Amino acid sequence: MKKVVLKQENIYQGYLILVNANYPIQTLIDEKQMVCIDPYFPDIVLESEATEMLHRIFQRIHSENQIVPVSGYRSLQEQKDIYNDSIEENGLEFTKKYVALPNCSEHQTGLAIDLGFNQEHIDFIRPSFPYFGICQKFREFAVQYGFIERYQQDKIKITNISDEEWHFRYIGYPHSEIMDEKNFCLEEYIDFLRQWKDTPYVYRDYVISYYPYQGVDIILELEETDTISGNNIDGFILTRKVCDKDAS
Ligand code: DAL
Ligand code: ZN
Repeated sequence: MKKVVLKQENIYQGYLILVNANYPIQTLIDEKQMVCIDPYFPDIVLESEATEMLHRIFQRIHSENQIVPVSGYRSLQEQKDIYNDSIEENGLEFTKKYVALPNCSEHQTGLAIDLGFNQEHIDFIRPSFPYFGICQKFREFAVQYGFIERYQQDKIKITNISDEEWHFRYIGYPHSEIMDEKNFCLEEYIDFLRQWKDTPYVYRDYVISYYPYQGVDIILELEETDTISGNNIDGFILTRKVCDKDAS
């Protein structure tokens, strides 16, 4: 058991933070947690656990060099440059659909990665990542490793971002699997979890509890495999894997 004290500032950290125009980034990301994904693309970095899981998917589907990283962690300045350059090149209407406002981009968390099918020309803002072949195989396995396809066509009205079949966000397992089963986008899933504040939500051998922050520090006793994340809105999500010993 390990005691943790959750303070207000911790709401804005963790694998489950919801980042969008309504809930911008609140904390400066520690760039030391970012690691290179692929030695051929030394400038593209991602948070370390997300990188590890991405590598596991690539190995599982034997993607070799058929899938390449296009954009990973971005600093605030990089997001500003991408946004402004896109307005110049593509106009405001296009940019609002495909580029998040500075400070509202998941790329600034180091938990989002744009992937492209490896071909001669790869578009930086809208890389090709089709719903067939090796890219589709990646998509099918991604949820088992904690990744979600973040911006889907049927959720545009909620995310306010166009469908981006190349943009994957790491949120951790089993959340990715639950979202996939329930066909939730991250906005819907975080909202769903906020309903479970009195009783935990049980999914297979996971128990997921929501702790709203109510102005005072929250003290929790964590087991070794527990994970805790803020939601970037108003509280924390504790994910506990129930082991056989607990179930018997
Ligand atoms: N393309 C996504 C929305 C971003 O800029 O974060
Ligand atoms: Zn992206």
